[in-house]
Amino acid sequence: TETVSEELTAAIRTIVDYPKPGILFRDITTLLGNARAFRRAVDALVQPWAGSKVDQVAGIEARGFILGGAVAHQLSSGFVPIRKKGKLPHDTVRIAYSLEYGIDEMEMHKDAIRPGDKVILVDDLIATGGTAEAATKLLQQMGAEVVSACFIVDLPDLGGRARLEALGVPVRTLVDFPGH
Ligand code: PRP
Ligand code: MG
Repeated sequence: TETVSEELTAAIRTIVDYPKPGILFRDITTLLGNARAFRRAVDALVQPWAGSKVDQVAGIEARGFILGGAVAHQLSSGFVPIRKKGKLPHDTVRIAYSLEYGIDEMEMHKDAIRPGDKVILVDDLIATGGTAEAATKLLQQMGAEVVSACFIVDLPDLGGRARLEALGVPVRTLVDFPGH
């Protein structure tokens, strides 16, 4: 019988040479468009937390919003958007992070987290971990207890998991694509 990981792996489309030659792009839009796979992915992400109190789910713009909203609903918790800079209207905390080319900044509303809140961080994929590490630092800076960071896809050879674990955050992923 097919495992959840196998089913989700099969539901993800790989685009060769996107966005540039030599890159294998793991496209989750096919998973999102597959009703059974989408439900199984969200169910698998929330499963360790069923019945426990999670105050907020934080999702990282943009693809983390899709999953984070579903996870928050399933756990009956709030949702906190972590956005690229300049999109949030109220007072924010901001952090710079490295991308493949250059740096960007992300931010979160200052009043989105209360000290001691138990928070789960959600994104679609962890590669180098730079994005999720920056989001974790923002949350921890505001006094959140980041109880887990969860992702559908891990590119394990890029070492992202260790960067979050170094911040004391357990990492949960559903599908591995080695070889990057
Ligand atoms: C992708 C992906 C993760 C991040 C992972 O987002 O959705 O958020 O990269 O990379 P890292 O672990 O090396 O930091 P992207 O910045 O392409 O933007 P999007 O989600 O808005 O499409
Ligand atoms: Mg993203």
